[in-house]
Amino acid sequence: MQRGLLLLTLLSFLVLCFKTGYGQPGTSTASGKKWWKEAIVYQVYPRSFQDSDGDGIGDLKGLLSRLDYLKSLGITAVWLNPIYSSPNDDNGYDVSDYRNIMKDFGTMADFDALLKGLHDRGIKLVMDLVVNHSSDEHEWFKQSRSSRTSPYRDYYHWWNAENGKPPYRYSLFDVAHDAWKYDSLTNAYYLHYFSQKQPDLKWENPKLRQEVYDIMRFWAEKGIDGFRLDAFQFVAKDTTYPAFPEGFEKSFVQYYAMQGNLHGYLQEMNKEVLSKYNVMSVAEGAGNSFTDAHNLVDENRRELNMAYAFEGVDIAKPAGYSLLHFKEVFSRWDSAFARSGWLSVFLANHDQARMVSRFGNDSPKFREASSKLLNTFILTMRGTPYCYNGDELGMTNAGFEKIDDFRDVQTLNEYRHVKNTGGDVQALFRRLQATSRDNGRTPFQWDSSANAGFTTGKPWIKTAANYRRINAASQEADPNSCLNYFRRLVQLRKENTDVLVYGNYTLLDKTNPAVYAYTRKDEGQTMLIVLNFSSANAQTRPGLNLSRAKLLLSNYKEAPLVGKEKTTLILKPYQAAVYKL
Ligand code: GLC
Repeated sequence: MQRGLLLLTLLSFLVLCFKTGYGQPGTSTASGKKWWKEAIVYQVYPRSFQDSDGDGIGDLKGLLSRLDYLKSLGITAVWLNPIYSSPNDDNGYDVSDYRNIMKDFGTMADFDALLKGLHDRGIKLVMDLVVNHSSDEHEWFKQSRSSRTSPYRDYYHWWNAENGKPPYRYSLFDVAHDAWKYDSLTNAYYLHYFSQKQPDLKWENPKLRQEVYDIMRFWAEKGIDGFRLDAFQFVAKDTTYPAFPEGFEKSFVQYYAMQGNLHGYLQEMNKEVLSKYNVMSVAEGAGNSFTDAHNLVDENRRELNMAYAFEGVDIAKPAGYSLLHFKEVFSRWDSAFARSGWLSVFLANHDQARMVSRFGNDSPKFREASSKLLNTFILTMRGTPYCYNGDELGMTNAGFEKIDDFRDVQTLNEYRHVKNTGGDVQALFRRLQATSRDNGRTPFQWDSSANAGFTTGKPWIKTAANYRRINAASQEADPNSCLNYFRRLVQLRKENTDVLVYGNYTLLDKTNPAVYAYTRKDEGQTMLIVLNFSSANAQTRPGLNLSRAKLLLSNYKEAPLVGKEKTTLILKPYQAAVYKL
C-alpha cells in the first residue's frame, strides 16, 4: 500500500517535471518565446548622439537623421534615455512634464516622426520611465511644497520639522549624502534619494499611482513598445523612514530596495497598463537576491518582463577584476534564471564608464580585439542583450584632465562632498577619471571632422580626444572593424535564435583564469564560445570535443589554433571565437 503511494507520488512528480519542462534543455524559456527575449536592444543616449541645430546638444531630429545607421546595425529595439521636459539637473532623469518633449531635444512632432521612422525600419522603441522621483520643477511638486494642505502634498514624502530632524537617510547624489532636504516654505523636510532637485514620489498614494498609469497609457497609445522603469526597485518606501542600522549608512540597496508594497504596485501596473498593450517592461535594479529578481520577473507573477541585475556590471573596479569572478557571477545568474524568469545582459550603459575601458583593454594595441570580445560575450549569452551606443565602435573613456570637463551631477557633487569634508580630492579625481558616468556620455564619434561630426557648435560635453582615430566613418570602410564585426555578431544571433537566445548555457573550463569558454545548446545544435580575456596567448584546458567544430566567427583573421591533443584551442590576446559543434 505504502509502496503504491510512493510510486504514485513519483509518477505525479515525473508528470509535473514533464509539464514544467524541469530537466529539459532550455524548455521553460523556449516554450515562452517572446519578441522581447529575442530583441537586440541598442541604447541611445540622445544628448550625445547627434545634434541637428548646432546648439551642442543631441536632439530628436539628429537621431532621426541617423536611423539608417541604426538599421544597418541590425539591432531590433532602441532604448532611449529620457526625452521629457526637464531642467536637466540629471540629464533628463528629473522630469518636469511627462507628456512633453524637452526643449533641447525638439517637439512632439519630432518624437512622432522618430517613432514612425523606427517602426518603418522594423525597430521597436523602449522609453525610459522615471517615476521614483520627478523634478522639483514639476507642477506636482510646486503644488506639493506650496502648503501642507495642498491636494498634492501626499504626492511626495514630507516630514514635518516640528517632529525634529528625520533619521538620517543616504542620498546617492546629494552633496552631503543627506536624503532629507529642509524646505522653509512649510517648515518640513522632503525626501530625495537622488539629487535635491529629484524629490521622491509617494507611491503609497493611490492617486499618484493612477497619474503614473495615465502617463504610461499616453505613451503606450502613441505606439511605443516598452518601458524601462528607472530606479524602480526603490519606489515603495517604509513610510516610518527608519534609520539604517549603525555601520550600514551607505547600504541603500539593502535598505531601500524592494520595500513596502512594491510587488503590489507592480501587479497593479501590470493589470492596469502593461497587460493591455504589446509592450515590454524592464526594471532597473533587481534587489538583493535571486528571490528578489524572480519576484520581479517570473511570468506567473504578472509584474515585469525582465530586470537589470547589477552584480555583473559592478565587478570591474578601477584596479581591475578577476575573470574567475566574472565567470562565476554570470554563470550563477544564468543558472538561477534557466527555468523561469528572464534577464538582461549588459556590460555598460549611461551610468558606467566605457565598457572597453572597464572590462577590456583600451590601449591602442588591444582596444579593437578586446571590445570585439566583449560584444561577443554580450551577444552570445542567454538573456536580452543591451548594447550601449558607441560600444559597437569600441569608444573609450573620455580621458578628462580637469574637474571642469565633467558635467554629471553625481560626479560633481561627489567631488564637492570630498572637498567639503576635507578628503583626498586628488585620489577622488583619479577615481573619477576611471569611473565617472561622463566617460560614457561623450559625443558619439561619427567621423574625423570637428567634434566627431556630432555638432557644428560647441558640444555640451567635450568629445573624447581620440575621435579622429576611433569613429564610425573610418570603420564603415574596414570589413574587420569593430563596427562591422558587431554587425556580424548581431546577424549571427538573429540567425540562431533557438540556440543563442533560448538554448542552455554551460560553463566549461571553470578554473581557467584567462579563458571564458561556454556552450549554448538547444535540441538541434550546440555552439561553443571561447574568449581569451587576457593580453597574452592562452589555451583552453584539454577536453573540448572539436571533431566537428566549424568556426562561425572570430575577431582575428586567423582562426584559433587547435592544440596537439586536438581537444584544446590556443587563442591570441583577447581572441574571441564562436563555433558550431
Ligand atoms: C538611474 C538612471 C540614472 C539616474 C538615476 C536617477 O540610475 O539610470 O542615470 O541618474 O536613476 O534617476
